[in-house]
Amino acid sequence: MASCTKVGLLGLGTVGTGLVELLTRNAHLIENKSGVSLEVSRALVRDLSKPRVLSKELITNDPEEILGDPDINIVVEVMGGIEPAKSYILRALENGKNVVTANKAVLAAHGLEIFEVAARHGRQIGFEASVCGGIPIIRAITGGLVGNRVEELVGILNGTTNYILTRMHEEGITFADALAEAQAKGLAEADPTFDVKGIDAAHKLLILAEILFQSRAELEDMVIEGIDTLESIDIEAAQEFGFRVKLLALATRNNGSIDLRVHPSLVPNDHPLASVSNEFNAVFMRGDATGELIFYGKGAGSMPTASAVLSDIVEISRNPESRLIWDPGKSVPFAPVEGDSRYYLRFPIFDRPGLIGRIATILGDHSISITHALADLVCDETNRGNVKIITHRGNASAVRQALKEIEASGVLSSPPVALRIFH
Ligand SMILES: NC(=O)c1ccc[n+]([C@@H]2O[C@H](COP(=O)([O-])OP(=O)(O)OC[C@H]3O[C@@H](n4cnc5c(N)ncnc54)[C@H](OP(=O)(O)O)[C@@H]3O)[C@@H](O)[C@H]2O)c1
Repeated sequence: MASCTKVGLLGLGTVGTGLVELLTRNAHLIENKSGVSLEVSRALVRDLSKPRVLSKELITNDPEEILGDPDINIVVEVMGGIEPAKSYILRALENGKNVVTANKAVLAAHGLEIFEVAARHGRQIGFEASVCGGIPIIRAITGGLVGNRVEELVGILNGTTNYILTRMHEEGITFADALAEAQAKGLAEADPTFDVKGIDAAHKLLILAEILFQSRAELEDMVIEGIDTLESIDIEAAQEFGFRVKLLALATRNNGSIDLRVHPSLVPNDHPLASVSNEFNAVFMRGDATGELIFYGKGAGSMPTASAVLSDIVEISRNPESRLIWDPGKSVPFAPVEGDSRYYLRFPIFDRPGLIGRIATILGDHSISITHALADLVCDETNRGNVKIITHRGNASAVRQALKEIEASGVLSSPPVALRIFH
């Protein structure tokens, strides 16, 4: 007969409700496949008056009814935020319970402390749902790919921004309109700052990088740029040159250290990441044994995220003594590297004779050579236009210096735009 794992939920919102529904729908399937039977003993919420998927007597607003219940084996934290989520996770571990969490924010900020407490108490933390929702990327890295030295990981880790960029590409709408559409569809929060400024993707990259490289990273170790300043004109130009703009999260080995960065990038149309659309996520990896791999799927949503939470619950129930796989105690350094890249550059100009030549000369002075160029000039009283350029690989600091000089030369009507090109 299957052993019964008793689960206590901290939170019964989007993910918690999905988990209860999935457990109800697939209880027999799970038991047949894994030999584990699961039972939700209690769920913590704030508002006791809301209708719930669980019967009233299983709902509480007192965390002690879960954290202090000796019969509960696994505490599932799906409430979100830093506090009180972090304190509840620590209390659960100290009380001898294993913990599953979908909360990337708490792991990115306090992962080290949480894992130290777990190790001290011989408990486990499952966090598959914290990155890429329904894509089992944590298990792939720690299981199927464990024998590989991963040279490079590139992800589209934030569904909200990928949806916004898809709409900007497909409909030619502005960032503000695409964001409003994402909010109306429930794909973006009322306060979208974490998503559009790249912080959510950075949290996820940090978790992936720590388990990939078994070392501790901080948000301060990363270059983080969002999509909130992108203009439709640059999305259109990217298309004209044969690229899609994506918010990429990149972890790359570079001369003994790891370069972590999140920023908008132009991805060539023939790269698999270019065709990842709408709210979908993808992770592209290069292992020394496997070569290139790509994982694709829904990175959020009630059911995909519940699927990831459930996989952790089942895994911990089957192997309650298995070893922790997150050991960020080693010291591989994380440091941004100003590597070479191809660039998309746009120069908003006043149309004057010789101006394009001057831009090209300053770029040339900094050893930045041009592969493609387009110029759009409006022949009206404003006499404004844009020069758009794709460069060969160039050094980041040389590009920065050249842009500074071009801006200082007084030929531009507003500051230039520079976006990196992926590969
Ligand atoms: N939604 C997704 O697609 C998704 C995807 C991946 C990861 N995640 C992560 O999963 C976690 C949960 O997300 P969610 O979308 O399910 O959130 P949600 O819909 O806002 O649900 C949060 C739940 O936690 C309860 N809660 C929050 N603060 C509480 C407190 N101080 N005391 C007691 N109960 C509290 C809420 O109670 P009430 O119901 O009474 O308000 C609600 O039931 C977050 O860390 C999120 O980042 C979510």
